[in-house]
Amino acid sequence: MTKPESSRKSRRPVRTGVLPVEDAPADVLVLKPSAKRFYGHGVPGVHPEELGGRLIVIEGADGSGRSTQIARLVDWLEATGHATSQVGLKRSNLIRDELDEAKHKNTLSHTTISLFYATDFADQLDNVILPGLRAGYIVLADRYIYTLMARDIVRGIDRPWLRNLYGMALVPDAVFHLQVSPENLIERNFAKDFMLDYWESGMDLGLSRDMFESFIEYQKRIVATLGELQREYGFQTIDGDRPVDDVQAELRAGVEKVLKGG
Ligand SMILES: Nc1ncnc2c1ncn2[C@@H]1O[C@H](COP(=O)(O)OP(=O)(O)O)[C@@H](O)[C@H]1O
Ligand SMILES: [Mg+2]
Repeated sequence: MTKPESSRKSRRPVRTGVLPVEDAPADVLVLKPSAKRFYGHGVPGVHPEELGGRLIVIEGADGSGRSTQIARLVDWLEATGHATSQVGLKRSNLIRDELDEAKHKNTLSHTTISLFYATDFADQLDNVILPGLRAGYIVLADRYIYTLMARDIVRGIDRPWLRNLYGMALVPDAVFHLQVSPENLIERNFAKDFMLDYWESGMDLGLSRDMFESFIEYQKRIVATLGELQREYGFQTIDGDRPVDDVQAELRAGVEKVLKGG
């Protein structure tokens, strides 16, 4: 989004944590340290007060528009002088491939799959999220522990066990949940891949032999569980059924608030 000349000139950068003050373009948003904390036990040896960047999470079902929105947020943030990095599910160098392989074999118990994903998360926390925040980056997470917890909860995994497991996670500066109707999700997934994903349709739960029916039932359960987690963890819902630009405008307003908020 290009700002009018007048507003470009009116904001004077003081300290960005990314660029030296004198090199910063006039419309860079100023980053002050924000209070950080872990949900529980955290990561040994990491002091949250050293983490000067921002952690912004976009949650939402498959096809809810996360990739689309994150790509635009990155363009916008980088154009205003912020360094960004990204994390997401199944993106760790450590076990990304093994996790895929294990899922294809479909022989792991729910608990083992859960721990596999937790390992994938822990690796990215250690190697991308924490170093990025320490260096003053805006770290954008394409889903976080909430989707992982919701998937596990609908498969009967104990909540206190999950809460303890993800006590290692850092509390994000903001979590935006893109909520999209199951009908729109199906339409968008087809537009993207011409198919539904076995796991994103909850086919392992035996809800229905029909993948469409299973997808809708499974996504309803996930949305309901995310709703409960939302009340517990306090994240913001964004109506993702609207056009891309409208969703982006709301996200940018939310991110801007976080960047200015200190
Ligand atoms: N707000 C929107 N309205 C209509 N279609 C959208 C919207 N956001 C994304 N899409 C389309 O839906 C599909 C899935 O979007 P994507 O960003 O890949 O979702 P995700 O990363 O959440 O799975 C893509 O084809 C994308 O162009
Ligand atoms: Mg995506």
